[in-house]
Amino acid sequence: MNFRRCLMMMVEPIERPRFDLAGVLGGGTGVDFERSLQVRAAHLREPRVIDAASCMWLLQCSAVQWQPLPSDPQARADVLTLLELGLLVSDDPAHAQALAIEQQVRDSHWWPLSALHYQQSCWDEVDSVQDMEQHQLVTARDLVRSYGSPPPEAPPRIHGARALPCYEDDPMQPQLQARATCRNFDTGRALPLPLLARVLQQVLMAQAEVETDPGVRFLKKNVPSAGSLHPLEAYLLVRNVEGMAPGLYHYHAVAHELGRLSAQPQDLESLCQRLLAGQHWFADAHVLLVLVCRFERNFWKYRNHAKAYRAVTLDAGHVSQALYASATALGLGAFVTAAINEAEAGRAFGLQPMAEGALAICGLGWRSGTKTTAELDPAGHVWPRSDPRGGDADAAGP
Ligand SMILES: Cc1cc2nc3c(=O)[nH]c(=O)nc-3n(C[C@H](O)[C@H](O)[C@H](O)COP(=O)(O)O)c2cc1C
Repeated sequence: MNFRRCLMMMVEPIERPRFDLAGVLGGGTGVDFERSLQVRAAHLREPRVIDAASCMWLLQCSAVQWQPLPSDPQARADVLTLLELGLLVSDDPAHAQALAIEQQVRDSHWWPLSALHYQQSCWDEVDSVQDMEQHQLVTARDLVRSYGSPPPEAPPRIHGARALPCYEDDPMQPQLQARATCRNFDTGRALPLPLLARVLQQVLMAQAEVETDPGVRFLKKNVPSAGSLHPLEAYLLVRNVEGMAPGLYHYHAVAHELGRLSAQPQDLESLCQRLLAGQHWFADAHVLLVLVCRFERNFWKYRNHAKAYRAVTLDAGHVSQALYASATALGLGAFVTAAINEAEAGRAFGLQPMAEGALAICGLGWRSGTKTTAELDPAGHVWPRSDPRGGDADAAGP
């Protein structure tokens, strides 16, 4: 068996406070710090805790050259432990899965810090609502109780700044103002397919195609994209659309068609809840769109590039804003969230780890006539004003 170190990893020294009874009895503060070394790797979901000797071993080990198992029993035991943790990879079939994902990271042209960031910020089985409730961090009032007041809503004004005209008759303004993140969907009314088709046409469909060289094609869409590469794909969870069987679909931006995936979940409702990390106010949307990045498409140009990951997340922001605008213009509600379980999306849509990955989930559908979950609409453009002072007591909810 030959082994080498995984290519992209970081060592994070951790210091956790713990109660120290002996310290109190000895006249101290009673607080002691437990120290450990945590290693995060771009191909591993969970950090690994190792001791200082193993860490030194790891740091000295080549990530490029393969080497045979050492003959010294202690060194051999260290190597086997690091192999079990996945921090070393080997050509042994027993470690084939870790090797394949690690190779994927090497081949995808990730900038190492971005690869670590993406992998380590992916969630699996997180229930963000339960977490917020447990820590009593749901409303703005809860946040102030725990964190004090936030920094001011705007920076100080500059002395002598030039006042600008404000137009009452701006034709774009009513539609822009009618946009509010929708957290209340009408589950009793199906969404007509033509409305969904129209949103997809406006936001995601390729409007034109350019072939610069044989096999080198760029799409023109209504949203901008870094390097014109448009690496984002939309996987749809269709919940309640007229004439469409509920389930998982892929939207093809060139063909403008929805392909039903061969693997379908047993329980779509619970998959929605899990994908949305427990945000039940979004799970009721008629359609969810999981924005999945084909990282390799962007990294073809921006390879090992410090800005590439930032650029693809900006691409996702543009798609979500266009989707809000399109849905609002059609009288629908929309939302975007980054609080998602990416690992669940990877399993549901059969994504290749680190070559493809979810960045955000958007959704749309008919708005409900009843507001059960808070929305931010202090000026009453969407909902009747409930507070004469112009604010909603619950406005800064989820
Ligand atoms: C990147 C991003 C992530 C968001 N994530 C969440 C979320 O996890 N849950 C949620 O309820 N709203 C989420 N929102 C919606 C914001 O809470 C919302 O935009 C904000 O409250 C302002 O309200 P408005 O969109 O109605 O103007 C997100 C918005 C953005 C742009």
